[in-house]
Parts: sequence; C-alpha cells; structure tokens
Amino acid sequence: MNSAPGTTKAKQQHQPVMPVQVLNGLCVKREGKFVDATYGRGGHSSLLLEHLNNEGRLLVIDRDPQAVSAAKQRHGADPRVLIAEACFADLGEALESCAWAKVDGVLMDLGVSSPQLDQADRGFSFLHDGPLDMRMSPQQGISAAAWLDNADSTEISRVLREYGEERQARRIAQAIIRQRELNPLQTTKQLAELVAKVLGPAARKFNKHPATRTFQAIRIHINDELGQLQQGLKAAMHALSVGGRLVVISFHSLEDRIVKQVFKAVSTNPSVNRRLPMPDLPEPEFKNHGKQLPTATEIEANARSRSAVLRVLERVRKPQSEAVL
Ligand SMILES: C[S@@+](CC[C@H](N)C(=O)[O-])C[C@H]1O[C@@H](n2cnc3c(N)ncnc32)[C@H](O)[C@@H]1O
Repeated sequence: MNSAPGTTKAKQQHQPVMPVQVLNGLCVKREGKFVDATYGRGGHSSLLLEHLNNEGRLLVIDRDPQAVSAAKQRHGADPRVLIAEACFADLGEALESCAWAKVDGVLMDLGVSSPQLDQADRGFSFLHDGPLDMRMSPQQGISAAAWLDNADSTEISRVLREYGEERQARRIAQAIIRQRELNPLQTTKQLAELVAKVLGPAARKFNKHPATRTFQAIRIHINDELGQLQQGLKAAMHALSVGGRLVVISFHSLEDRIVKQVFKAVSTNPSVNRRLPMPDLPEPEFKNHGKQLPTATEIEANARSRSAVLRVLERVRKPQSEAVL
C-alpha cells in the first residue's frame, strides 16, 4: 500500500467509498474545521483537503498506528492537517488536545481498510494466512487467538451469533473448544479451515467463504466496534456546531441499525400520549437527512462499496445545556 498517491495502483487501492455523497453530506465550507475520524489511507481526507482553503483545518484520526504513519507521510507537511492516533470514541479528548471546541463536520467510514485486510500479519483475513490477531490497534486489548484460547463456549457462541449472525455458532464454538484442548488456534488459516470443516461444502454457496461470518464476528468483538460506534456517534454529535454535519458510512446491518436508531432518536420528539395535555417539548437539536446508497456504476468500479450505507445528520440547534436562556 505504499505506492505514491496519484499512480494507477494507488487509485485502485485507496478508492474512497461514495466520495461525492460524502462531500455533499458534509456540506464542505472552504474555511471550515472538519474531522476524518477513520483516516485509513486518506482517500476521503485527500478529497476533503481539495475543498478546503488555507484557513480550513482537518483533524485526521485512526486507532491503527500504521494508518497514522501513512497520514504523517502523506499530509504531515500540510499546515492545515492535524494527525492523532486515537479511537473515535475518544473524539472529545482528541479535539480538546487540538484546542478545538466545535467542528463543521465529522466523517466516520467504518470497518477495516484494504491494507488491514491485505496484510497477512494483521490477521484479519481468511484469504491470507497469518497470526490470528485482528486488532486494529495492536497495542490495545487481546488478540483473537488469545480470546479464542480463553473464552468459554457460551461466550464464543454468543459472539458468533450476535456479531456474525452465524446460525451454526454453537457447533463452531464447540469445535474451537475441542481443537484448543489439542492445540490452540494460532493462525487465520487454522480458524478458516476449522469453520469450513464444521459447516461442510454446502456453506460455500454464493461464492462466500464459510468463515466470512465467523471472522466478521470475532473482529467486531476484539475491537469492540459496536461500543466504539455508540460512543463515537455521541462524541461527534456533541462536537458539531450549528449547521455542522455528521456523515457515517457503514458496511453491515449491525452498524447501520445503530446509526439509524441514534439519528432517528435525536432528530424526533418522543411520541406523546394524545389524551394527556401536550408537554412543552424542546425542538430536536438535529435534522436527519436520511440514507444514501452507492450507484450501480460505483459498485461496478469499486466492489467494496456494494454493501455501503451512508447516513447524514445535521445539528440545527445548540445543545439544551448550551442554549442561552
Ligand atoms: C474503511 S477504513 C477508512 C478508509 C478511508 N476513509 C480512506 O478513504 O482511506 C476504516 C479505518 O477506520 C479505522 N478505525 C476503525 N475503527 C476505529 C475507531 N474506533 N477509532 C479510530 N479509527 C478506527 C481503521 O483502523 C481503518 O483504518
């Protein structure tokens, strides 16, 4: 992933998802302050920077130290760019350390980047044999191998069912426990082969590897992706100035459900009992601009975009706590 930006190879590898919708969703002001909370390899950041003038500022964040190094290499010399290794759940602290109170827009492009998937030694992919790690930040938490070696069957089964929607969760969990009594799982290939053996040839339907759901589930658990998302949304909404936008791109239904529910909850008044006197409810602080999907042309050009769902939220009023009485 180190090819120079602008080369054909770089364009193929760093293709940002739904670029036009991201720029429109953020409603980019040339002198605005923006946050790319999931830098990856900077596809969206580079686009944003093209639309900022010398007064504009972009804070880029990623929890993966390799992404942060890439950001320093690519944008370190740009005085408009600030770079932080952080989780987006801690966005508030990252903003504080830049002395930024409010921002005009935050982008969250969820999930893993192509370099994370492509590098065998990160342990994210059943397509490349490597150590069973799966941590986005290798300094935080425990590896997938360590977790699978210690969790009990009920816990493994719950994770596979809840985060992978894997119907054979119990059988896979039991096979993992049996295997680790002989030899703990240490590589992605060992896990992928074990799952394929449990599920049998029928599971190879629709050209999907049988271990797809298991890998997704373990990755979500190891990185606490859904907890991060809940906290990240809260921190981002809090950071928006009036007129500021939050754009979130998710790639599976578990993430999108959370984004959809949170955006709906903050942009509507709770339903009231019509038989009781109307309570004096404050107007919602946010406007929900709904969801957008990639075009057929984009899906054809960039297969990674096929499951993307983009949602936009706008702050339309100051938080109650900050409103002048
Ligand atoms: C889909 S990639 C982003 C790609 C990027 N938009 C681009 O155009 O290159 C997602 C990135 O978000 C990072 N990430 C995921 N969860 C995160 C979190 N909770 N906090 C900070 N970064 C996170 C991952 O490490 C990964 O680099």
